[in-house]
Amino acid sequence: MRNIAVIGVGYVGLTTSACFADLGNRVVALDINEERIENLRKGIMPIYEPGLKEIVERNIQAGRLNFTTSYEEALRDAEFVFICVGTPSGVDGEADLRYVRMAAETIAKTMDHPLIIINKSTVPVGTGDWVSDIIKENQPKPIDFAVVSCPEFLREGTAISDFMNPDRTVLGSTNRAAADAVAQLHLPLRAPIMVTDLRTAEMIKYASNAFLATKISFINEMARICEALGADVKEVATGMGYDQRIGPRFLEAGIGYGGSCFPKDVQALAHMANIHGSNPQLLQAVMDINHGQRLHVIRKLEEILESFEQKIVGLLGLAFKQNTDDMRESPSITVAEYVHERGGIVRGYDPAAMANAKAIMPYLQTAKDPYELATGVDALIVIAPWNEFKQLDFVRIRDSMRQPILIDGRNLYDPDTMRQLGFTYRGVGRGYHNGKAD
Ligand code: NAD
Ligand code: UGA
Repeated sequence: MRNIAVIGVGYVGLTTSACFADLGNRVVALDINEERIENLRKGIMPIYEPGLKEIVERNIQAGRLNFTTSYEEALRDAEFVFICVGTPSGVDGEADLRYVRMAAETIAKTMDHPLIIINKSTVPVGTGDWVSDIIKENQPKPIDFAVVSCPEFLREGTAISDFMNPDRTVLGSTNRAAADAVAQLHLPLRAPIMVTDLRTAEMIKYASNAFLATKISFINEMARICEALGADVKEVATGMGYDQRIGPRFLEAGIGYGGSCFPKDVQALAHMANIHGSNPQLLQAVMDINHGQRLHVIRKLEEILESFEQKIVGLLGLAFKQNTDDMRESPSITVAEYVHERGGIVRGYDPAAMANAKAIMPYLQTAKDPYELATGVDALIVIAPWNEFKQLDFVRIRDSMRQPILIDGRNLYDPDTMRQLGFTYRGVGRGYHNGKAD
């Protein structure tokens, strides 16, 4: 049992707090958002993440997990402090480090005993050294501390199992004893632990996200080529994936990647490269393809409808992917804006992200389920591939629509089945249909 403080209780911080508590440690989780902390104390989760509520409640009850807005309280007994605050995109795509700075300054001013400060936020290469400087500059009197980088690789929607079963733990530090102490904390996760210097650990995180984003843009480019040449990208991906050097994962063509990470992290890495005189050509192409892919999907519908004026378009799924309520950089926003700006009416349904979507897109009409969504619309577009969309009653849906047009931005459905049901169906990269690109 170790004493841990976690700063920031968003997707990463709350998962980290709950999982370390569940492993038997005593965790105090802190946020500057008072409402979040108040709600967490009552068992109300600030985010939708499957399985999280149960673990949080279990550990609150066991007395291993507490929530606070007070840095004094969080740091009082802490040996380890995890910084898990947001690092959103700032000017020119540069990571905005204001929350990291704020957290580091407050830790420095509050700490009254030696601490190991662990950076879990995704931060530009060099930030670990910068955090060390901030701590030194802001300590009222010198107290020992070490900074360790421990990038997080979890995905939203599967955060708990990703955290508990990581492929690897990466630790970066110039202080070997501190890195070893953090390694001990991670031993129950039984993953390979790699210890490196701070900058390399920070770079591993960016390179990993950039590579995954590259796989997605690669397969989306293949999808475009498949459309031009009459091949089926789903089968192409399956065929490629059997090659163990390639692997089957992250080769799903669709409407492009979104979320709080790939868009901002690829951009931040490109920015770092640019300002240091390296020309990130591949990263630029990855971002361009991704942006183009969102437009490519909505233009499939525009081609069929000719104009969006007075047309009602239903978005099936609004979050950036399934099993999350996160709307950050969701392709649904690009698609909705495109339709809205051209005089169309946008309606949406998502099992978890309705409130967040409505806050971003006040013009969005909401539906209580996929059937209400479909009633009277000119077209449906699949944005997020939630399980509950996989076996809908498509006869009922077809009969309730004004026009039976289905744009499948996630290749969720079988094109032939949908066409036999009477839909005008377009997937992504599904080869020719009637001699034309799908
Ligand atoms: P988030 O926006 O969900 O949560 C951040 C939290 O930090 C908020 O609750 C905010 O109120 C709090 N906060 C901000 N400043 C603070 C301060 N000074 N003191 C205390 N709390 C403060 O963010 P997130 O999605 O959890 O991401 C956090 C970091 O982890 C980012 O760098 C992100 O790139 C990285 N990351 C995210 C994921 C993911 O799936 N979301 C996965 C891996 C890594
Ligand atoms: C991603 C990474 O997968 C995590 O390892 C990382 O920790 C995290 O970013 C982060 O740094 O924050 P996440 O954004 O939660 O996790 O979700 P993913 O499952 O990676 O999906 C990202 C986007 O790519 C989604 O829009 C998804 O629909 C899309 N995607 C994913 C595809 O279009 N095709 C695929 O084959 C896979």
